Amino acid sequence: MKRSGSVIDGKKYFDEIAPKYDHLRGSEIWSSLLSSIGSFDHKGSPVLDIATGTGLFSVRLAAQGFHVLGLDRNPRMLMQAMRKAREQHCSFQAVLGSAEQLPLLGNSIAVMFSTNAVHHFDIREHFTEVQRVLRPRGYYVVYTRFREQNARSIWGRFFPHFSEKEIRLYKPEHFERLDQEFPELALESLDEFSFEKPFSRDRLLQVARQRKYSTFALYSEAEFRQAYATFSSRLNHWSDKFYLAEMGRIVFRRR
Ligand SMILES: C[S@@+](CC[C@H](N)C(=O)[O-])C[C@H]1O[C@@H](n2cnc3c(N)ncnc32)[C@H](O)[C@@H]1O
Repeated sequence: MKRSGSVIDGKKYFDEIAPKYDHLRGSEIWSSLLSSIGSFDHKGSPVLDIATGTGLFSVRLAAQGFHVLGLDRNPRMLMQAMRKAREQHCSFQAVLGSAEQLPLLGNSIAVMFSTNAVHHFDIREHFTEVQRVLRPRGYYVVYTRFREQNARSIWGRFFPHFSEKEIRLYKPEHFERLDQEFPELALESLDEFSFEKPFSRDRLLQVARQRKYSTFALYSEAEFRQAYATFSSRLNHWSDKFYLAEMGRIVFRRR
């Protein structure tokens, strides 16, 4: 998979994962996201979720009364989001488009966010667009796993080659550099946080088999089978009831 603007494998992966995505992913960042988004002045603008996927967070926000635009380049992922929004009768509008060419007017959005997705973007093209579309004193909140957090995760530690293959993820300093490159955007905060997840060997094996992360699309079939077998036997030695997952939260403010 190419580092940025990767359409081919990335598209195929998300096409296949779309119907089962919500069963594979956790939503532990929800309360943090809700309190961030709720704390900003929306100035009457909709909230924009960039690479909304199946609307795991954006449809939930819409169900809380926010008017949400959910943008994604994958129609199958977006269809899941639209289905959920219809079922919940909430104010969610799907937008087919790319993070590198936002189909929105300049200075039109006061609050935008992106979760678990920036490593898929061409980050410079994306930030050029963020700078253009965000209103003065507007906010952009990014939730992502940093590269070292990924290496320390249960996947990075026990699933062979997981962290070496996943070189798309950013380090905190990448975001600090963006702050220098984009003069209209100020890096407001950059935090790392962690949460415990209950350990279940069966569940971890099941989500690995179903290719929970797009990282698994970077393995050949034979490589994956071998790595899965090693992962499975390594998990036999896990004795705790929980494992730790980590995330980063980065907030940019338009000057
Ligand atoms: C791991 S999912 C994250 C979905 C959602 N934000 C969440 O947290 O559950 C990544 C999403 O990014 C989308 N995506 C990847 N590159 C993109 C791009 N350049 N522009 C728009 N969407 C993109 C994919 O189609 C996919 O739906």
